[in-house]
Amino acid sequence: MFGPDRVLTAASFDFKDKSYLITGASGGIGLKTIQVLLDSGAKVYSNSRREIDIKHPSLVHSPGDITDEEFVKNWVASIGTIDGLVYSAGMIEPRPIRFETKEKMMKVWDVNYFAAVNLVSNLIKKKKINAWSSSVFISSISARAPYIGGSKYTGSKAALEVFAKVMMMELAEKKARTNCLAPAMVKTEMYDKGVDTGSELRMAEHIAKYPFGIGEPEDVAQACCFLLSDASRWINGVTLTMDGGYLLT
Ligand SMILES: NC(=O)c1ccc[n+]([C@@H]2O[C@H](COP(=O)([O-])OP(=O)(O)OC[C@H]3O[C@@H](n4cnc5c(N)ncnc54)[C@H](OP(=O)(O)O)[C@@H]3O)[C@@H](O)[C@H]2O)c1
Repeated sequence: MFGPDRVLTAASFDFKDKSYLITGASGGIGLKTIQVLLDSGAKVYSNSRREIDIKHPSLVHSPGDITDEEFVKNWVASIGTIDGLVYSAGMIEPRPIRFETKEKMMKVWDVNYFAAVNLVSNLIKKKKINAWSSSVFISSISARAPYIGGSKYTGSKAALEVFAKVMMMELAEKKARTNCLAPAMVKTEMYDKGVDTGSELRMAEHIAKYPFGIGEPEDVAQACCFLLSDASRWINGVTLTMDGGYLLT
């Protein structure tokens, strides 16, 4: 159990005897986070609609739609207690405001926001979150640096960040930490979709603004593991921006 008496060493990144729940498992960031956690000795309960390529004795993957309340109820009931979670499920679907409809907006809000709240609600009700746990929600810098076509994505991520703070306040008594990571552009399937929908020139101009290039999934996975670990035990209720310096260029 992580706790105030534990001395911090490099072994703070040792996840032996720890269990984590990871959503968005088939995506670039979720998959890499699972790999790093398994390599560091953790047990992982993962979800995405698709199956994933990793086979490991400490991995239990439950395919299903995270917006399906019945599925989530049964999934949560089927798992053991956890020492934290990474909510990495997400959708982007950029679209100019004039083409938005409530139905199209709800599809994205459902995955990015409502399903996260519903999942946490189930985890709390079923007493699945251990004391000294740490949870991470993957937001986006776009909650603070919006872009054209991003009305519903940016709004859903801003809402997710505020939700994470409320969760932190409600669970602080149980010594459960909650933080967000807000990455800029990371090379995953979501990035590829952005390249497909944006013009190549616009994308090249955007990428040129990153002094260290755009992020790789392992950059976010490593930061997730830092926030899950004891090494970050005094970091609580914050959003950590990850952009390689992009916002200041
Ligand atoms: N890539 C970036 O540039 C970037 C930047 C900032 C923030 N983020 C955030 O980082 C997180 C991870 O994104 P990524 O880059 O790894 O994108 P990705 O490769 O597109 O992954 C998205 C993940 O969400 C899952 N998902 C979507 N709808 C779902 C549903 N209804 N039920 C269950 N799972 C669902 C997908 O799984 P299935 O399709 O198999 O269901 C997939 O595993 C997202 O929250 C995203 O908003 C990404």
